[in-house]
Amino acid sequence: METATALDASVVVPEEERALPSRRETYAELVRRLSHQSVVKHFDAYADIDWDAAECQIDPADPRWELGVDDALGATSWYRAQPPEVRARIGLHLIATFMKTGLQFESILKRGLLGFAFDLPNGVPEYRYVYHEVIEEAQHGLMFQEFVNRTGLDIPGLGRLDRFLSHAVIGFARVFPDLFFFFVLGGEDPIDHVQRTALRSGREIHPLLRRIMQIHVTEEARHLCFARHFLRRNVPRLDPFRRLALSVLTPLILAVMAQRMMRPSAQIVRQYDIPDTVIDEAYGTNPRHREKTLAALAKVRELCQELGLLTAVSTPVWRVAGIWSA
Ligand SMILES: [Fe+2]
Ligand SMILES: [Fe+2]
Repeated sequence: METATALDASVVVPEEERALPSRRETYAELVRRLSHQSVVKHFDAYADIDWDAAECQIDPADPRWELGVDDALGATSWYRAQPPEVRARIGLHLIATFMKTGLQFESILKRGLLGFAFDLPNGVPEYRYVYHEVIEEAQHGLMFQEFVNRTGLDIPGLGRLDRFLSHAVIGFARVFPDLFFFFVLGGEDPIDHVQRTALRSGREIHPLLRRIMQIHVTEEARHLCFARHFLRRNVPRLDPFRRLALSVLTPLILAVMAQRMMRPSAQIVRQYDIPDTVIDEAYGTNPRHREKTLAALAKVRELCQELGLLTAVSTPVWRVAGIWSA
């Protein structure tokens, strides 16, 4: 089990931003290093979180769940006019919903990774790494579901269309892994960005949520690092047709993923009777929300630029998807 200090250090400096052991580290060496880190620095959802500790109990009226004014919905006058218990409950409901969406996204991810590993030849280092990642994501699935259960809120998770589309995504992991790994970044990058921002914000965070986020960002750093390096190595080798398909489909995937990860679900809107005008004020026409969404997607966008995927054909798709910034 990691000490709190070691965890905080890794939260501040993501894995891939730390100095590489050697400037000339090859792709295979990087994958082996990530696998080794999975052995020496990993977490168990039950051994490493003290779920029954007094400080980890969840009270839906706890003011620490309240959204701050830096949150899109939290900044609206409608939200600020709600009684304190309702403000706290909405905050907790949002967190539980993001965890449920997160664990379902990670379930799709795990099934895709297993499909990807299924076809790998003997002896390649990706096989071991991918299995480590599946194991870590399984721990995250346990951790997120346990949190959701302990909130007492019945969160429905992804809608029917998303569930149906998830089968296509899982299939892509075998036939078009490059697109699959952009889907992975589209889900993991925004979650990671939001969690790191929260941990760095200095706001008081409920100890259970803080522990979950610390564990998550520590392990996600490896997953993000692998996905980026896989794409850096493989996208330049794609034929022109696949390259075009990747450049056009990626912004569509990113826009949908960011929406799922950063906006309240239909259940929340219904249950708390949030007026359409408030949703529009918070998410539709709010330049600060747009800025936040673009910031969450900034790293993956930079990667697209680096790989030459922002072209005259694909740029209009980014614009239509509402995730383009000049
Ligand atoms: Fe995860
Ligand atoms: Fe992950």
